[in-house]
Amino acid sequence: DLVIGTAAAGGGHHVTAGYPDPFTYDRQYRRILNAEFSSVSPENQMKWEFLEPERGQYNWGPADAIVENAERNGQAVRGHTLLWHSQNPAWLTEGVASGEIDDTELRQILEDHIRTVVGRYAGRIDQWDVANEIFTDEATPRLRPENFWIQELGPGIIADAFRWAHEADPQATLFLNDYAVEHIGPKSDAYYALAQDLLAQGVPLHGFAVQAHLSFEYSFPTSLQENLQRFDDLGLETAVTELDVRMPVAEGGPTEAQLEQQADWYQQALEACLGVEECNSFTIWGFTDKYSWVPYFFEGTGAANVMFEDYERKPAYWALHETL
Ligand code: XIL
Repeated sequence: DLVIGTAAAGGGHHVTAGYPDPFTYDRQYRRILNAEFSSVSPENQMKWEFLEPERGQYNWGPADAIVENAERNGQAVRGHTLLWHSQNPAWLTEGVASGEIDDTELRQILEDHIRTVVGRYAGRIDQWDVANEIFTDEATPRLRPENFWIQELGPGIIADAFRWAHEADPQATLFLNDYAVEHIGPKSDAYYALAQDLLAQGVPLHGFAVQAHLSFEYSFPTSLQENLQRFDDLGLETAVTELDVRMPVAEGGPTEAQLEQQADWYQQALEACLGVEECNSFTIWGFTDKYSWVPYFFEGTGAANVMFEDYERKPAYWALHETL
């Protein structure tokens, strides 16, 4: 059965700037999160810079709170994320840059981290985004030069990350996850080739996920279903993991026409997932504009979620309901 999820806001620079942690302090937020969703993703709380800000000192509080809250409410949890170029702690990035951490040690650090984090939640987290955003957006995508894991340790580290995660929790479904891979094109082709390669090697890769941070600046990725289907045909699960639909916003907020178009896009994304047999998980990246990352990362845009800042439902919210 399809699981509909949301990101649990918290920890983001945009969130901490304006508000105390919404998950803890905003009752209306938490009530909706618990009542309306059957899955949650930590928006930031399981990223390395939050889990281990000082070397050797794990801060589990916010991540544990999400998992425990999910269990109380019968929600699945998506773990996010293990091998990524971004949001790593300073001790790690600076240690690599200065050469203080050599390759042997670096490899050990990643293995320990994956075993520690995945092992802690073994049996309680359903899906993990093991490798996040590993390809560039170039016409001929490459493994990201700014991904120091891959740069230092070679592309084989991707397979190892999956193997370590699988050993730490054999029940978890393990994903590749990225943005701008919703449509069939060079970047999703790169993932298709990688997935085939990993599967041929017997690597425990179980899923391919599209983030789906969509924007009116581009058109809707109409090949989404066909794209998910080709990964499904490889025997992989698929998922939509971070859907939001941003738009240019004027003073008075989004227009009726913008809200209608947004509803249509949310609906099309859900229909694409519903059309693919093993697209088992559909997650929106937060549900209210109140805590959205979008205005802080894509200047001049916003209104990307299915509820306004005061939690009033938008047409996109009702469109998802009607489609289910
Ligand atoms: C974003 C969060 O929403 C922000 O709070 C944070 O400041 C930056 O990261 N792709 C991902 C997510 O995989 O982890 C990102 O989340 C959005 C893009």
